[in-house]
Amino acid sequence: MKKNIAVIILAAGKSTRMKSELPKVLHPLCGRPMLGYVLDLAAGLKPEQVVAVLGYKQELVRKIIPKGAKIVIQKKLIGTADAVKAGLSALKGFKGTVLVLYGDNPLLKNETLKKLLDYHLENNVDATLLTAYLKKPSGYGRIRRDKYFSICGIVEEKDADEVEKDIKEINTGIMAFKKDKLEGNLKYVRPQNRKKEYYLTDIIEILAKKGYLVDGVKAEDAQEALGINTRAELAQANSLMQKRINDKLMQDGVTIIDPASTFIDFGTKIGADTVIYPFTVIQSGVKIGKRCSVGPFAHLREEVELKDDVTAGNFIEMVRAKIGSKTFVKHFSYIGDSHVGSSVNIGAGTVTANFDGIRKNYTVIKDNANIGSDTIIVAPAKIGKFAITGAGSVVTKNIPDKAVVAGVPARILRKG
Ligand code: UD1
Ligand code: CA
Repeated sequence: MKKNIAVIILAAGKSTRMKSELPKVLHPLCGRPMLGYVLDLAAGLKPEQVVAVLGYKQELVRKIIPKGAKIVIQKKLIGTADAVKAGLSALKGFKGTVLVLYGDNPLLKNETLKKLLDYHLENNVDATLLTAYLKKPSGYGRIRRDKYFSICGIVEEKDADEVEKDIKEINTGIMAFKKDKLEGNLKYVRPQNRKKEYYLTDIIEILAKKGYLVDGVKAEDAQEALGINTRAELAQANSLMQKRINDKLMQDGVTIIDPASTFIDFGTKIGADTVIYPFTVIQSGVKIGKRCSVGPFAHLREEVELKDDVTAGNFIEMVRAKIGSKTFVKHFSYIGDSHVGSSVNIGAGTVTANFDGIRKNYTVIKDNANIGSDTIIVAPAKIGKFAITGAGSVVTKNIPDKAVVAGVPARILRKG
């Protein structure tokens, strides 16, 4: 079956319920804007076209839209039906299936979307909704079914009566349409609701009344349905996404002693047989080799790379640092803007003083150096191979290979 699919992603909305200046779809989940996950989902379907509908602070949101996707601007934020209409304006010559995704629905899984699309295409449906059953459906649009159990409409929470509020089957917001049916009927959507908005959800009743085939596919895992409207939902989604990231790492051979207290962003690489101890935060882009030991209480920030067999122990903060294999940084250290070689021992309490008040300066520590406890390295500085610094040294100059230094400021006690 040839699949002509275009995806419209709705991401124009404000952050009203988040009470935020930042557009909602840019709020991060595990270190990545929530919209990033939705863009990945769309790309994963290999559609003919992806259209992102932007509005509120579009100049910020467009920065994360990939080149291949089209951007359309919804001029006034008057509802999801109007946003889809804007999206369709970028699909002039396209014929086929239009899949609508919401930018605030990042937990969806690729296989669920595939299931939805397969069902839609195989059964020649005009509009297929992804629905879910929630014990507590509040906040979501409820699916109305007629006496034959056919979907006949969606009622938004705000407009629902007590009986409708009791319906546990909800609209995830994800819908697949035959493009012509969608396009031809959007004009019948009227802002007749409490919010005076043009609701995309109203098109379902319009299509059903006209006798078009409307059907639903249930998301197996109701968590996928989570739409993020509030900070509390953001936190909930974050922990679900975190669980997925941690589970995948464990599957790939990483030991995480306590996943519940381990915070690893999207887009990190960790090698097999590395052990991550509790209360550790690892930010996006960090790369960790095999057989490393990280934490407890370690904070690895952006652009950190640990080669194999590295220990980054308790109360370690690292940022923009490369650490060579078999190097130990075991206790309370700050290593920033640094390149540390292999088999280096960095004693407890070592600090690379990288910031002089104006700019960040670089520290280089060569292979097999031995940095005494409580050494402060005032960058820029280079410490040679096999060099040794005494406990409490304040290093202000480059140290040659094999030299031994100590004191404040550190002086050479023995040349290499
Ligand atoms: C929507 C659905 C609801 C569903 C829920 C699932 C409607 C009317 N309601 O409600 O049935 O259960 O999602 O999470 O669709 N947006 C625009 N332009 C607009 C308005 C919204 O692009 O003018 C975008 C938002 O950025 C957001 C998405 O559409 O990504 C959904 O809007 P939102 O206001 O969050 O809808 P809900 O009230 O959650
Ligand atoms: Ca929402």
